[in-house]
Amino acid sequence: MVAGVAALYRDTARATSSPKRLLSTRARRSIGPRALVFAVGQAEDIAMMQEALALAQRAAGRTSPNPLVGAVVVADGRVVGRGFHARAGEPHAEVVALREAGGRARGATVYVTLEPCDHAGRTGPCTDALLAAGIRRVVVAMLDPDTTVDGRGVARLRGAGVTVDVGVLEHEARRTNAFYVKHRRTGLPFVTLKWAMSLDGKIGAARGSATAITGEAARRYAHELRNTHDAVLVGVGTVLADDPLLTCRLPPDAVPAPRNPLRIVVDSHLRTPVSARVVTGVAEAPTLIATTAAAPAARIDAMRRAGVEVLVADGAGGRVDLRALLEALGRRGLLSVLVEGGGTVNAAALEAGLVDRVIALVAPRLIGGAGAPTPLDGAGPAGVAGARRLRELRVARLGDDLALEGDLEA
Ligand SMILES: NC(=O)c1ccc[n+]([C@@H]2O[C@H](COP(=O)([O-])OP(=O)(O)OC[C@H]3O[C@@H](n4cnc5c(N)ncnc54)[C@H](OP(=O)(O)O)[C@@H]3O)[C@@H](O)[C@H]2O)c1
Repeated sequence: MVAGVAALYRDTARATSSPKRLLSTRARRSIGPRALVFAVGQAEDIAMMQEALALAQRAAGRTSPNPLVGAVVVADGRVVGRGFHARAGEPHAEVVALREAGGRARGATVYVTLEPCDHAGRTGPCTDALLAAGIRRVVVAMLDPDTTVDGRGVARLRGAGVTVDVGVLEHEARRTNAFYVKHRRTGLPFVTLKWAMSLDGKIGAARGSATAITGEAARRYAHELRNTHDAVLVGVGTVLADDPLLTCRLPPDAVPAPRNPLRIVVDSHLRTPVSARVVTGVAEAPTLIATTAAAPAARIDAMRRAGVEVLVADGAGGRVDLRALLEALGRRGLLSVLVEGGGTVNAAALEAGLVDRVIALVAPRLIGGAGAPTPLDGAGPAGVAGARRLRELRVARLGDDLALEGDLEA
């Protein structure tokens, strides 16, 4: 949960000026001097890595196709340099942190959330920078799954006599970089399926115009999700029903600073009106419409003239091939897609095995109505035994609403 994790990181960051404070006096007495040195060392590793993870998170949604990386340089138990990778093409986290540390980096420890790279991409290898700075120990949360790194960074540092410890807060680091890990493993973006519903499981009313179901805090969270995903996707049914803007509307002081995701509409016959807000607002935020060969050529031309990108991806049943669309987005280096559609597109994405995470924002309201839309249409399984399960369920209260989120079990 974004807000909860941020609070945890803030608390830990405050404690990091003295890692001994993480253990009570009684605990320190009871475990004895040698175990104390070990425990304090471990506590320091955890606290410093938490700070590095919090730094990494500050660029969420900004680094694609690169990962989120944070780093801190620690000398004599004090943080002397902090850095994070702000966007592709800009310096890596280790380089930023080493710059801040300057000469204090000699003999110091670096905590970094992802294995340092050992290849010269758009910036030089981080291993070179760490060795040149005279770093004695490097603590790495997780190895880099990218085939150009994949253990080489750690091997190079160890070969040069640097102590390297891998795996501190690995689980948290994998969560921080879940989008990147999925993309590097499969070539596909990470897909989050999100909807807002009433307590009786309706995402709208059977009749009448669209009105927000959840309260302000949940709506803000929904905009935070848009801010940290590379794209937001709906079906043409949602465009016709609600004429959504699909932009990220957060105050300018939000972290990271607000920016709009790529807006995507799946629309097999190009029924999206040229007057729809996703079309007329392309100067504010880019829009891509995925369609099929059945779309009239004149409508494709009209959309392109209006500044909308049109991509043809023919799928089964005359509809857009969602997997082919996601593969195309992955090839462009998009790491994440937030699906905010109605029940038709949501179910299609789920049934195609493309969804990684589900977020349900639940309002304490009862809408009712046999014809009211629900989050998942489609055929569904033959029985409840075929229901998909979520793991690592996280629950948060957002004002009067609940946010329930979990990752899909395979
Ligand atoms: N509360 C919420 O979170 C929320 C969010 C969004 C929408 N809604 C509500 O949901 C309702 C709209 O539901 P909906 O199901 O019509 O909207 P939708 O799922 O967003 O759009 C469905 C349409 O997408 C098109 N499509 C193209 N390729 C597809 C594919 N591969 N698989 C599935 N669909 C594909 C289909 O039209 P073509 O065959 O013409 O291409 C389909 O009818 C509205 O009442 C809206 O207010 C609620």
